[in-house]
Amino acid sequence: MNFIDKEIENYCVDKSSWPSSLCQSIQDYTLDQEHWSQMLTGKMEASFLGFLIRAIGATRVLEFGTFTGYSALSMAENLPEHGEIITIDNDSRIQKIAQGFWDKSAHGKKIKPILSNGIEALEKIQGEFDFVFIDADKVNYKNYLSFSLSRLSKKGIVALDNMLWSGRVLTNEQEKSTQAIKELNDYIASRDDLFKTLLPIRDGIFLVQKLS
Ligand SMILES: C[S@@+](CC[C@H](N)C(=O)[O-])C[C@H]1O[C@@H](n2cnc3c(N)ncnc32)[C@H](O)[C@@H]1O
Repeated sequence: MNFIDKEIENYCVDKSSWPSSLCQSIQDYTLDQEHWSQMLTGKMEASFLGFLIRAIGATRVLEFGTFTGYSALSMAENLPEHGEIITIDNDSRIQKIAQGFWDKSAHGKKIKPILSNGIEALEKIQGEFDFVFIDADKVNYKNYLSFSLSRLSKKGIVALDNMLWSGRVLTNEQEKSTQAIKELNDYIASRDDLFKTLLPIRDGIFLVQKLS
């Protein structure tokens, strides 16, 4: 869901830096061929994440939820030559499709996919990260956040996607993803050791930094 008026969003996108035409090809393929195409982040969010990555001078990025590879490639395009993005997904079919697109990009070599359940992948992941994008199974977001904070560099940012869940955070819906997101929003808000901002960009992005 978009919380921003479509015309205004288009105007903003038009005036902003965009991901490459190859990212656009991923988007076109996904809209045309994939059932859950709305999961793809899209131009506005990609431009925003790219700006953050550049602003903090990130070199190592971690992503939970690769899908067709759009967000991974758009983030890689904003990393320096020696930058690296580790992206995790448990769907081998979708990861092969993503790899096919990345292979056509000079930035593709920065992307290291891990085919695994997100929780099981945690023990395989080494080192610190400057930027983490959490965009996989909602019920495990809190686990991904805890891991990410434990591995975040001093300048690092964690971005959690879909944190307004099409506005369902304002309802009493008992569905487990809705409950998980609402509880996590409350949990993040209660953490005095974090600097945080929840933004109504696309489906809601919660940005988190450690204060010390
Ligand atoms: C919202 S999509 C990611 C969209 C992607 N970041 C983009 O913008 O193009 C969520 C992805 O998480 C993956 N996923 C769901 N549950 C998972 C789990 N338990 N472990 C790993 N990946 C999972 C799905 O296969 C799906 O590709």
